[in-house]
Amino acid sequence: MQYIRFLKTPRFVYTNDRRSGTVFALVTIASDLGESFFLQDVALTIKLLNGESWTSLPLSVTRYTWKAGMRTLKIELDLVKQKEMFHRTAVLSVSPEQTAADDLSQSGAAGPLVSSAYSSPFGLSGGIEAEGYVERRLIIGWKKALLVWEETGESIARHIWCNTLTSEIKNEGKRLDVLDKTLGLSEDLEVLELGSGCGIVGLALASLYKNCLVTPTDLPLAEEIIVKNIECSGLQGNINFKPLDWDQNIPENLTARPLGLIVVADCTYNASSAPSLVRVLAELSRRSPGAVISLAHKKRHDSEDVFFQLMDKSFRKIEQIQRALGTDSNGEASNVDIYIFQLP
Ligand SMILES: C[S@@+](CC[C@H](N)C(=O)[O-])C[C@H]1O[C@@H](n2cnc3c(N)ncnc32)[C@H](O)[C@@H]1O
Repeated sequence: MQYIRFLKTPRFVYTNDRRSGTVFALVTIASDLGESFFLQDVALTIKLLNGESWTSLPLSVTRYTWKAGMRTLKIELDLVKQKEMFHRTAVLSVSPEQTAADDLSQSGAAGPLVSSAYSSPFGLSGGIEAEGYVERRLIIGWKKALLVWEETGESIARHIWCNTLTSEIKNEGKRLDVLDKTLGLSEDLEVLELGSGCGIVGLALASLYKNCLVTPTDLPLAEEIIVKNIECSGLQGNINFKPLDWDQNIPENLTARPLGLIVVADCTYNASSAPSLVRVLAELSRRSPGAVISLAHKKRHDSEDVFFQLMDKSFRKIEQIQRALGTDSNGEASNVDIYIFQLP
């Protein structure tokens, strides 16, 4: 999966006669780690959207091409339209013409998957500048949309990763039986997420499964972005963030009742954190012996094997499935593995 990112968020500049102006932005297409730029051509549609309305016609639509080898793409939209346009708040969207990456209910696809970016609202008469956030507008099945904000900077915690587990929650292909059964339970399901980042997995669960009471957890530095996402989702009753550092003691009152499901997405990339993460999973499972662990892992380096070696000592691997996840920066197929673990 590749992501369109704003390196410079959009801003509007009037021409001297103030009858027209230009919207400027700078974008890139990069992997979730941001360490490599996408090495394939991508046809892009750039829309200037009326900031207050999702349904009204775009104020302008322009096409650009991201060319293999580019590191950045400068966007300039000249506006010479009616005066009233300049009193609006606008959102700049940058989407690939093939928007398969934004429909997580269909993903598991091969080929280039590039996720669209929506800016924060900004003023077309100056004054309101786009904040340093980018919104992903994702379809998560049953015609449901999930809106997730991330920061435009480089923080690992404050942007979304490869969407692996979110896709799995509503993947329409072959499914993981244990995850299905757990989510399909009629009684309330206490769910804890470790390393939730912006909260995409927990938000998808709370949005799709009304029986899920979700506690996303992460380091305190992720709190602001996840709380913003929870507030925007309107799901506050079903999802509440708690700080949890894998290197600290686990608070006794983390959740009101025993856990039924523990979810972990893309948290196994750092081998030095593996002992702490396994310790936390073991302690949580000891407190809630019936809990099922659903873990999504995109292998980036052989050193990550240590996590699975440690898991094998404490847990039983019940199921495993591999999903295609588009292509990496070089155009090579990329996969994600999803595991179900439980105490023996
Ligand atoms: C690669 S991000 C994945 C975020 C999210 N799960 C996703 O898929 O979008 C890894 C997350 O693990 C969190 N993390 C790393 N070390 C941690 C620790 N010691 N305690 C708690 N969370 C940690 C990071 O803050 C980050 O949000």
